[in-house]
Amino acid sequence: MKIALIGAGNVATHLGRKLFGVGEELTQVFSRNWLKAKQLADELGAVPVDDLAEITTVADLYLIAVHDDAIGEVAARLADNGVVDRLVVHTSGATPMQLFSEAAPGLERVGVLYPLQTFSKIRQPDFTKIPICVDASQTSDRELLRSLALNISPHVYPINDQQRATLHLAAVFVNNFTNHLFAIGENILKVGDLPFEMLLPLIQETVGKLENGPPAAMQTGPAIRHDEATIERHLRQLDGQPDLQEIYRLISQNIIASHL
Ligand SMILES: NC(=O)c1ccc[n+]([C@@H]2O[C@H](COP(=O)([O-])OP(=O)(O)OC[C@H]3O[C@@H](n4cnc5c(N)ncnc54)[C@H](OP(=O)(O)O)[C@@H]3O)[C@@H](O)[C@H]2O)c1
Repeated sequence: MKIALIGAGNVATHLGRKLFGVGEELTQVFSRNWLKAKQLADELGAVPVDDLAEITTVADLYLIAVHDDAIGEVAARLADNGVVDRLVVHTSGATPMQLFSEAAPGLERVGVLYPLQTFSKIRQPDFTKIPICVDASQTSDRELLRSLALNISPHVYPINDQQRATLHLAAVFVNNFTNHLFAIGENILKVGDLPFEMLLPLIQETVGKLENGPPAAMQTGPAIRHDEATIERHLRQLDGQPDLQEIYRLISQNIIASHL
């Protein structure tokens, strides 16, 4: 399958590498920054492009992996350039497939290929463990995306807009928010001149325990124990940091309310 890769960020890089690795043909890589496009394109045996007007109109699949806010604009440009009866998909968890019909009504075949994982360029993802959510406006394209996705992961799910929005919301809590809490933990340790690596086994065990049961059953800490004195002590330690005090209070209250 000839694939035009639009974007050269985290997702484009890892998806591009994986698709290339399983033998798909990456024809072009687009980035507004020519050097970024060239760097990824060279790796994938593709042609670098920094102008959307130069994107081919005869790829089998257009994989749009750009910022959520730019998907509509890119799709509209593709339609204006004459990409009409080709399959155009985005990789966003938060963006409805319906966006295509609003931003680029000329596109006849649209879809989504959303890998449910956190991607950063510096870390190699293990695609065999990544759920890939697929959807398409046409049944035959849903099947096409399903087989493409099965080439890169055994975990492929047909997921509609509403289900994907639900997944993405949950993903923000379990990944984005927990990671920010790790960053808060790191800053708190700095005050005591303590290294973050001391927290790593605790973080890893928190996740590891989920193999033994649901998260609610694994909850520990002062809130679930109703240890009021400890909670008050922690809040005093956060004096002068009202945002952190509020986060601490809100999460503690929510833990208590969830275990009544
Ligand atoms: N990162 C994740 O963990 C993850 C996981 C699943 C899905 N996603 C989804 O995958 C998509 C890409 O995310 P990412 O993490 O790969 O983002 P990223 O690393 O920040 O890369 C974003 C890309 O978007 C391009 N871009 C931004 N504004 C643009 C515009 N106006 N026109 C054209 N290109 C534009 C950037 O282009 P330049 O190279 O020109 O700067 C860059 O190549 C998003 O829809 C995101 O929701 C991300």
